[in-house]
Amino acid sequence: MKRNGISIQIYEDKEQASVAVAQRMGELIKAKQALGKKAVLGLATGATPIGVYEELIRLHREEGLSFQNVITFNLDEYYPMQPASDQSYVAFMQQQLFAHIDIPAENINIPDGTLGQEVVDTYCEAYEQKIANAGGLDIQLLGIGRTGHVGFNEPGSTADSLTRLVTLNEVTRQDAASAFDGLENVPTQAITMGVGTIAKAKNIILMAWGEKKAEIVKKALEGEITTEVPATFLQKLEGVEFILDKEAAGRIDG
Ligand code: PGA
Repeated sequence: MKRNGISIQIYEDKEQASVAVAQRMGELIKAKQALGKKAVLGLATGATPIGVYEELIRLHREEGLSFQNVITFNLDEYYPMQPASDQSYVAFMQQQLFAHIDIPAENINIPDGTLGQEVVDTYCEAYEQKIANAGGLDIQLLGIGRTGHVGFNEPGSTADSLTRLVTLNEVTRQDAASAFDGLENVPTQAITMGVGTIAKAKNIILMAWGEKKAEIVKKALEGEITTEVPATFLQKLEGVEFILDKEAAGRIDG
């Protein structure tokens, strides 16, 4: 099924959907290996991609999939944030994926939440450049927030926005409150790839699970393209797929 240029695949449950996404990534990694090239993966955090990472770990352990030729760029990190903090996306990625596979540590890139304000802009430009130097993102994984954010591109983010320091939306902070033991502990800012950074990826896979995401998935696919729902910019791109479970797909028109 297609809607406004976006391919939509609906799975019985998020487990089957996650396995399908991980297997696609595994195929890409192996195809690049056969050519002696690197696979460049744009990765996401949050609850949504955890099943994908579980399957990638299984492919590594049980089927010998190697990540030696993989370079990763994560979408975002809270700011300020120390990597050793339990809530950091550095910790998340270690626990959910990197500690369990054979990716070289120097191939992992996650925005640095420890920088001083005065060097953040230069750092963000360098992050963009590093993605470009790696040959661009082959696949970018995305979740979607209830605000319609992708990465931490909150309402107001423009189509050409690049990696930068942003202020988090209140809804996003509320959704993170339990992980931080209270809203007051959730950082107010983050460093995120921009909508324009994501748009340059050769393939974009947005995943959403559960009834809670049904309304925003509908808006992202069928709504007017607007900075108020940054995910609607995906309608303008080639090579975008939405991988949904039945519940998240529940409100898409016929
Ligand atoms: P979630 O977050 O995967 O935890 O639902 C998605 C997002 O906010 O982008």
